[in-house]
Amino acid sequence: MKKNTRKTFYITTPIYYVNDQPHIGHAYSTLVADVLTRFHTMKGDSTWFLVGTDEHGSKVQEAALKAGQQPQEFVDRISSYFRNTWKSLNITYNDFIRTTEERHKKSVCAFMQQLYDAGYIYEGVYEGLYCTGCERFYTTKELNEKGECPDHKRKPELIKEKNYFFKLKDFIPDITRDIESDRMEIYPPERKNEMLALLQNGLDDFSVSRERVTWGIPLPFDSSQRIYVWVEALQNYISALGYFANIKEQNEKFSTFWPADIQVIGKDITKFHCIFWPALLKAVELPLPKKFIVTGFFTVDGQKMSKTLGNVIDPNDLVKDFGVDGARYLILSQFAVGADGDIKAQRFIEKYNADLANNLGNLVSRVSHMIMKYCNGVIIRTAQDTKHFEKISREIYNSIETGKLDVALSAIFQDGFSILNKEIEEAKPWELAKHDTVALSAHLSRWAQHIEFYGKLLSPFLPETSQKIVQAFSGPSVQKSEILFPKK
Ligand code: MSP
Repeated sequence: MKKNTRKTFYITTPIYYVNDQPHIGHAYSTLVADVLTRFHTMKGDSTWFLVGTDEHGSKVQEAALKAGQQPQEFVDRISSYFRNTWKSLNITYNDFIRTTEERHKKSVCAFMQQLYDAGYIYEGVYEGLYCTGCERFYTTKELNEKGECPDHKRKPELIKEKNYFFKLKDFIPDITRDIESDRMEIYPPERKNEMLALLQNGLDDFSVSRERVTWGIPLPFDSSQRIYVWVEALQNYISALGYFANIKEQNEKFSTFWPADIQVIGKDITKFHCIFWPALLKAVELPLPKKFIVTGFFTVDGQKMSKTLGNVIDPNDLVKDFGVDGARYLILSQFAVGADGDIKAQRFIEKYNADLANNLGNLVSRVSHMIMKYCNGVIIRTAQDTKHFEKISREIYNSIETGKLDVALSAIFQDGFSILNKEIEEAKPWELAKHDTVALSAHLSRWAQHIEFYGKLLSPFLPETSQKIVQAFSGPSVQKSEILFPKK
C-alpha cells in the first residue's frame, strides 16, 4: 500500500543499452516521461522519475571489445553520455540507475533467490537462435525470409547450453486477465491487442540465465551462470527504489512508489515488459505496474538510424542548433505517441521557424511591444472567460494524462498561439491605435492574458520558455523578455 497522503506518481523509461551513444529515439521516450513527470509535479503529486542504463550482456561486451576498452571502463564512459544528454535536454529525473551498481546487483540476487526458493526456476537445456543485437532468442517463424533477425538483418547464432528457466506458463491466464481488464493498462490499444494475441498463441517458459556470457551478474544459486541480461535489467525498476527481498532491509522509497504508475517503453520491448516482467513480479507476489505507454519507432529519411548510414540524430546537436526547448519541441512534436514515423532531418529548421520563431516567438514579442508602445507597459487585467479557460485546461490536462502529448501540444500551438496571431492580424491594432484606443487596450489585455494562460500550460513541454512567458506577462506591467526563438 502506498503510505503517502499526497498522491504519488512513479514513472520510468527503458534503461538504454550502453553499446552506443544516445540518439533521438532514446531522447523521445525520455522526453515523454519527463513531460508526464513535470505535469504531475505541477498538479502537486509527489513524483519519482527513474532513468538509467542497461550495462551487462554480450551486446555491450562486444561493443567494449570493439572499442578496445575493459567493459567497466567502457560502460562508465557511455553511461555518462546518457547522463549528460539528459542534462542538456533539461530532463528532471530523480534517479539514474546503472545495472553495474552494487545496489542493483544486491537487489537482483535477492530477487532471483526468492524466485528459486518459491519453486519457479528449473534447470534445462536451451537450444535456440540468439540475436545478440536484440539480446533475445528467436523462433524460426519470427525471422525474415532470409532467416535473419528482422531488426538487425543478421543471422542469429544457434546456441545450445544449460540454462535455468522461469515457469512463465504458470502466469499466463492471470496476466491475460490483467491486460484484458486494463488492471494493467497498455496504451495505445494496438499494443494491448498485440500482447493479448501473443498470450493466446501460447508462450514458452523463458531462460533466466546464460552459460557462456561472462559480462553479467552471477546467479546466486549457480555462480557458473550469469543472469540473463533482460531478466536483471527489468528489475532496475524496483532495485532503484531499494527493493530487497528481506522486508527488514526494505527501503521506504519502495513502499512509497511501487507499483509504477507509468512505464514508458518502446514497441520493440513490449513482450518483455507487458508479459515477462509482470510474471516475474507475480512470482514474488509484488503488484504490477498500472500502465505502460508504448512509443513507436522513428526512421530518419526513410532509413533505420545507423552509424554506417550516417543518419543518427544526436539530441545534443539539436540542442546546439535550436536551444534546449527548441530541441524538446522538435523531438516531442514529431508524431503521435505510439505511432511510427519518418523524421526528415532537413525539416527541423522549417518547423522551428514556423512554430517557434514565427508563431510563438513572434506572438510574444509583438504583444509585449504593443503593450509597451500603446499602454506604457501596463497589462490591464480584465475579466476573462474563466469557464473557457477551465474547459481548455481540462482538455489539455486530459490529453497529457492519457499520454496524448501530441494532441496537447497542438492544442496549445494551433488553438492557442496560432489563433491569437490570427486575431491580431484581423484586429489590426496598429490601425486601432489611430482611432479606437479603448478597443485597442481591450484587445491587448485579452491577448496578454491568453498568452499567460497558454504559456503556463506549456510548462511540462518547454519549461524554460514557459517560465519566461509567465514572467513577462504575469505582473502588473509587461516585462521585456529576450527573443524566445531567434529565426534560423
Ligand atoms: N536495454 C533495453 C531496455 C531494457 S528496459 C528494462 C533496450 N535498450 S535500447 O537502448 O535498445 O533502447 C530501447 C528503447 O529506446 C526503445 O524501447 C525505445 O523506447 C527507444 N528507441 C530506440 N530506438 C528507437 C527509434 N529508432 N525510435 C524511437 N524510439 C527508439 O532495449
